[in-house]
Amino acid sequence: MLVLGIESSCDETGAALVADGRLIHANIVASQAEVHARYGGVVPEVASRHQLSAIIPVLELALERAGADWSAVDAIAATYGPGLAGSLLVGLSAAKALAWARGLPFIGVNHLEAHIYANWLRPPASPPLTAAERAAAAAGAAVPDDPRFPLLALVVSGAHTELVHIPRHGRYELLGQTRDDAAGEAFDKVGRLLGLGYPGGPAIQRAADQRADAPNPFRLPRAWLRGTHDFSFSGLKTATLQAVEAQRAAQGDTDPASPLDPAAVTDLAAAFQDAVVDVLAVKTSRAARDLGVTQVVLAGGVAANTALRARLAASLDPLGIALRYPSVALCTDNAAMIASAASFHLALGERDDFALDVAPGLQLPFAIAH
Ligand code: KG4
Ligand code: ZN
Repeated sequence: MLVLGIESSCDETGAALVADGRLIHANIVASQAEVHARYGGVVPEVASRHQLSAIIPVLELALERAGADWSAVDAIAATYGPGLAGSLLVGLSAAKALAWARGLPFIGVNHLEAHIYANWLRPPASPPLTAAERAAAAAGAAVPDDPRFPLLALVVSGAHTELVHIPRHGRYELLGQTRDDAAGEAFDKVGRLLGLGYPGGPAIQRAADQRADAPNPFRLPRAWLRGTHDFSFSGLKTATLQAVEAQRAAQGDTDPASPLDPAAVTDLAAAFQDAVVDVLAVKTSRAARDLGVTQVVLAGGVAANTALRARLAASLDPLGIALRYPSVALCTDNAAMIASAASFHLALGERDDFALDVAPGLQLPFAIAH
């Protein structure tokens, strides 16, 4: 089964063709990050206008790259939430119009669920599934190399930080979440504070990587919220701001617009990243141990962070728990993950009708909320 997935929840326009929920035949992403960088964050009206101009070329390119024409497509899926209403409307309307015109099944996808399903996607040039595996996949069953339930997912994106127990496809039990800022949001705010631009996550990682392996003069606080699986990052953000102000004063220049000493920037970036990664890794591995899962999956843009991957793998390894994460390109917003998540719903016989509207505040469909 070949699914066309469309993603347009924020400032990326994506179209992808994915076979059997796992094999990527094409995955095109047009990013507007440069457009928004000059504003230090995403401007919703600008984002939806760019979505509109990108959607048709991105769709055409995806079909061309896959060497597929419309007759090869079995179903069409698009993100319907969460995200920016104007941006979501573009991809969702395109998907509905195409499905109607081609007489194909249509399904709306929850963007957060799709981030989790990026873990089912295979590396490029993977061999196709065998006939028996394809039959299992079409029925929604597992095939070798799939993540194994029960799973613990750490969902860390620009707007969400959640620990979710997933005993089987489609069942989500919320263990804990952030009480204030999301991890990605904290990366973006601190990126701006350090003059590293938008998006802050990759910029902070690059800055931290530039540091020599020497003791860091800065150490920033961790909010453990003991006895819960919750997170908090706003205190860390304030502590980083205070460290930046103290550094400016030490440089003899308190003008907030003046640049920081480059060595202080890399030290502060590393200290901030250490604090975030430390809390995420310790709390996730503790939850995984308590639940007795054998696999943990990372999902969302912050899952691209190499320090987080390494630190979490190191905490889980002694517990005999495996860590899985998508490739960097599949951690941030893309349409292949939309097609993958859609395939699992389609396999269960689910379809949406054209009345489905955008849902900017959509959550994962929690069966148990903590
Ligand atoms: O999942 P995503 O692409 O969009 C949302 O659904 O929100 O996540 C975007 C977030 C941004 O906050 C960005 O700064 C962060 O993911 N991010 C990273 C890295 N790459 C992207 N954070 C830390 N390290 C990275 N390498
Ligand atoms: Zn996302």
